[in-house]
Amino acid sequence: MIFTVAIDGPAAAGKGTISKAVAARFGLAHLDTGLLYRAVGALVLAGADPVVAARTLNPADLEGDHLRTPAVADAASKVAVIPDVRLALVDFQRSFARRDGGAVLDGRDIGTVICPQAEVKLYVTASAERRADRRYQELVGKGLDVTPQGVLDDVRARDARDSGRDTAPLKPAEDAIIIDTSDLSIDEAVERAAAAIAAKWPL
Ligand code: DC
Repeated sequence: MIFTVAIDGPAAAGKGTISKAVAARFGLAHLDTGLLYRAVGALVLAGADPVVAARTLNPADLEGDHLRTPAVADAASKVAVIPDVRLALVDFQRSFARRDGGAVLDGRDIGTVICPQAEVKLYVTASAERRADRRYQELVGKGLDVTPQGVLDDVRARDARDSGRDTAPLKPAEDAIIIDTSDLSIDEAVERAAAAIAAKWPL
């Protein structure tokens, strides 16, 4: 069975949580494509050339808690602007999307560029303030030294960079279903996504 669920949206809108939950519920493989850009960003912070890093990325590069730090998120958003970095990551994402058994991919350009033929396209968003508040709680929970204003500034800077770039900017696909999680619980958001998938489920 080929069945792709594309879940796009800005940072900290809840894409990751929703993606994992629906992948488990429907028995689909899941790829967090942000991790690819974070891995390239981390390699660049360690001195690598971004395009070389993207072309030679290997599974071990995708491991490690360091990929979840604000510094790596910022570096990821910067390398993601480079067209050759994006190009180097396309084939892997496309073959994952069309793998047998079905897949959920979350990112910024899955429904628009990586897999425009996806059977289900969701655009998960929330206000910058709600997203920053959630990300702040998450980072504090991990023991990181951050401030609410600093996290909000980071979220806004990443939004501007991810939406403003020329290549594959963050935007909803024309046929995407928008899920605004500003005033939804995690369970409510997951149920909306699951209902959208169930409506297109092939069996
Ligand atoms: O989803 P995330 O926060 O882990 O993504 C980190 C950065 O990677 C994000 O700011 C922009 C970039 N990215 C992208 O350009 N395209 C994707 N499909 C996924 C992430």
